[in-house]
Amino acid sequence: MKKLEMLYEGKAKRVYKTDDVTKYWIEYKDDATAFNGEKKGSIHDKGIVNNKMSALLFKVVEASGVPTHFESLVNDREQIVKAVKILPLEVIVRNVAAGSLAKRLGLEEGYTMNETVLEFCYKDDALGDPMINEYHIAAMNFASKDQVALIKTYALKVNEILKAYFMDKGLNLIDFKLEFGDYNGEVILADEISPDTCRLWDSQTHKKMDKDRFRRDLGDVESTYQEVLERLTEGSTHA
Ligand code: CDP
Repeated sequence: MKKLEMLYEGKAKRVYKTDDVTKYWIEYKDDATAFNGEKKGSIHDKGIVNNKMSALLFKVVEASGVPTHFESLVNDREQIVKAVKILPLEVIVRNVAAGSLAKRLGLEEGYTMNETVLEFCYKDDALGDPMINEYHIAAMNFASKDQVALIKTYALKVNEILKAYFMDKGLNLIDFKLEFGDYNGEVILADEISPDTCRLWDSQTHKKMDKDRFRRDLGDVESTYQEVLERLTEGSTHA
């Protein structure tokens, strides 16, 4: 497959066309942003961690019956994916209160909720990805009701799969963000699953093992990203 012209450059990835119209070529960058682009920096070799980790987790998810855009790894930083049209929604799944939810509801970070919480945000950087509900999604035609129903089922299923998977590696899955795409009328999981898009806390020490180390200047940013990838690829049990 040939890598052709760049279609889009995002905050963490570049997307290229290929000589196959049904496939995109994704390149993961080391660039890191937070607080809606206000904080900018770079995390050495983050692109490698996120590319490899997304590939691994998309395979795990796919094997459990949730279709994903992942096709194959090209090299350390690049992968081939299905050419989807991304739905303008960020789907946030929360098991434990943290980040914006803890702030909004005045909860202590780490508060364990009775049930998993699903949130939708409208994917628009200029607006700061505002939170929306299913009425907004229908009214603005961001996705159909059938698509939303499927997205909810898939998001909860991904949560169950990943919670168990991370638990085996000594990591608690606190919350994460998913994006879905339309592939010839079919809804499939797209974007990435990485320490940039998940909150992961060490099960024993509760150390933050994710992008909060960068957002909050907690130190050990690079080494923590590397450790997460090592735990996932080692196959050993840390629990
Ligand atoms: O990260 P922040 O506190 O600003 O927002 P949040 O709503 O608490 O984020 C919930 C989860 O979604 C975290 O794991 C974030 O890393 C992830 N997220 C993301 O990957 N991209 C966004 N645009 C927003 C949240």
